[in-house]
Amino acid sequence: MSKKLFVANWKSNKTAEEVKEWLDNFSPYIGLEKEVVIAPPYPFLHLVKEKIANNESLSLAVQDLSAYPAGSYTGEVCTRNLEGLEVKYAILGHSERRRYLGETHLDVANKVSLAVESGMTPIVCVDQEYIEDQALVIESELLPKCIVAYEPLSAIGTGEPLSGQAVLKVVKIIKKYFGEIQVLYGGSVTADNVHIYNEVTDGVLVGGASLDPEQFINLIQTG
Ligand code: PGA
Repeated sequence: MSKKLFVANWKSNKTAEEVKEWLDNFSPYIGLEKEVVIAPPYPFLHLVKEKIANNESLSLAVQDLSAYPAGSYTGEVCTRNLEGLEVKYAILGHSERRRYLGETHLDVANKVSLAVESGMTPIVCVDQEYIEDQALVIESELLPKCIVAYEPLSAIGTGEPLSGQAVLKVVKIIKKYFGEIQVLYGGSVTADNVHIYNEVTDGVLVGGASLDPEQFINLIQTG
């Protein structure tokens, strides 16, 4: 059985000083059955990599990837730029990117291909209404290599998480289109509600409650 994943998505938060402070305060006891994934902004990947080195329960993720290979794409960060950083996961198609940056299902599908090609596991974020449309444009042989995060817009950053039953219903739809893959839930997950998702998913994607190390440690331990 795969380990439960606890993904910290810091989004566009934190200074280098704040990252150092977070890392200094982050030393949870992590059981073998749990894996903690930290997704910092790009400039802090090195800092986090140093901290998690040689700890099998901690891994590194990026919050996005370029949809293009290495080359003349100013401002983009492609898989080649990340070589040597031991990035294990790539969060792709987060609703904030779809909404503010116009990311399409096809962009996400291209990023999935590039991520897998470079040895990363894509964590594809979806909301209920476009699960099928998103799955249809991803190369079919890559679907089983994805982890999918169910991230309902109504729950992200709103303090209004979904019930376990509602999540379970969508987990089944995701598996219908992606196959028997790992499915995460994301949207207002905290230490108080994480146990609900433990029973119906393979882990959680955490935004706000991952920014403070103590809060996040608490969440991992109760999850
Ligand atoms: P939240 O964000 O935990 O702050 O709701 C979750 C996410 O956007 O992945």
